[in-house]
Amino acid sequence: MKRIGILTAGGDTPALNATILGAVQRANQLRIEVVGIIKGFSGLLNPNVPHVFLNPLFQSIPELDATRGGTILGASRDYVDGNDHETISRVAGRLNKLKIDGLICVGGDGTLNGMQPLSEHLPTVLAPKTIDNDLGLNYADEANEWAKEPNDSARGYRYKKNPGRDFGLDEMVNFVTPGFATAVFVSAQSIQRIRTTAESHRRIAIIEVMGRDCGMIALGTSYGQPDIILVPEAAVDETLLVERVLSILDVQKHAVICLSEGIVDTEGQCLGAVTSSKDPAGNLQYSGAAEAVKRLLVKHIGNDFFTHKRRNESADAAVFVRKVGHTQRGGRPILFDRFQASQLGGKAVDLLKEELTNCVATLQYRDGGFVLDSVNANVLRDRWGTIHARPLSPRLYDAKRFQPSPQGIEYLQSIFHTALGADDVESQRHLFSTGNLSRPYQSVNVDINKRIQRLDGASG
Ligand code: F6P
Repeated sequence: MKRIGILTAGGDTPALNATILGAVQRANQLRIEVVGIIKGFSGLLNPNVPHVFLNPLFQSIPELDATRGGTILGASRDYVDGNDHETISRVAGRLNKLKIDGLICVGGDGTLNGMQPLSEHLPTVLAPKTIDNDLGLNYADEANEWAKEPNDSARGYRYKKNPGRDFGLDEMVNFVTPGFATAVFVSAQSIQRIRTTAESHRRIAIIEVMGRDCGMIALGTSYGQPDIILVPEAAVDETLLVERVLSILDVQKHAVICLSEGIVDTEGQCLGAVTSSKDPAGNLQYSGAAEAVKRLLVKHIGNDFFTHKRRNESADAAVFVRKVGHTQRGGRPILFDRFQASQLGGKAVDLLKEELTNCVATLQYRDGGFVLDSVNANVLRDRWGTIHARPLSPRLYDAKRFQPSPQGIEYLQSIFHTALGADDVESQRHLFSTGNLSRPYQSVNVDINKRIQRLDGASG
């Protein structure tokens, strides 16, 4: 293995540069060249394959900084379609022309699906990342628990998973993905900040966090102490929810609800997603879950409740919604993400060195600590070959109390008790550096652009 490629695909996450740096540092030790492909799979679909040499003379380029969020290589949601054999062989030809002996894809379940067809042409390893923390399995045989249920959709079925079995935390395949801890750090702080407004004005705040069909971010957001957490894996029971909100209002005159964007009703229909569309990788884009819960509360609680006690002029005015949005996906990664991401990047290089293909570098939890391991991607496939996003197990969430279960608390503690470094706190002081007022933002894209080379020989 003399030269490997690396690309970052799917939505950006805070620790991508840390993963790339970890891979490059390991490659420096092994004297392997690393070529960064620009903009994920999109770079490979481009006949000129824009790329950057990340370790000339086995020294990491200075733009690689583990504390910088996003990815210096750029990312896209384009992917390689497994059924398009012509494109796949063209992509394989381009990698060959670049003399790339193995490829690291940094991404989540969508990227892993995109990596599958390339695995037949060269060694490939996925270095995981996703704020959603939905890559992997709750336990080894979980992929077999997916079933196809007929429905009226164009494809005629939908996937459904049974609730699964009890498991120990050390059984989880890929315990946690880089990006998750930083997302939770941001969303938990958002809850704390919004809380005081809800409290002062006797209002109900509904805060929506990301995660698609997985409630992990919402679960982690419990560090911000929301009164109620709603996750996609537990259908929203309107009666129970309204009862809980009323009992909270009764005691503290305000309430804070944190919900995942992908929450569903008891029929399994998304509460939001009214205007859903699909990205190039076929992922649903969610919107409107918080507004849907607001409508539900306004309808059930009604104006009188709020006007009677002179708390608010109407139910509509009393309930407000906010999305944490992309702030939970961007910016400086916290210590846990930086460290584990760079470890996984290094592990991915070691796996390629062993010429493994279609492999996933994983972070496992054993005997109270984290260890690196790997798994063949086929272990994550269901009977029909699909790789599903890992759902939040019902064992980690208490649907009656709308809070993490004891096992959920244990899970979160294992990640977060040392997740924040002193430098993460210190770095916040730079916000008010006077230079920020006089200097424009210096984009890394400008520096990387000067390093970009193309297969046709052109550069820049
Ligand atoms: O998969 C990561 C994620 O942030 C999801 O949580 C979210 O639904 C989606 O990406 C948002 O995608 P985009 O940035 O393309 O709107």
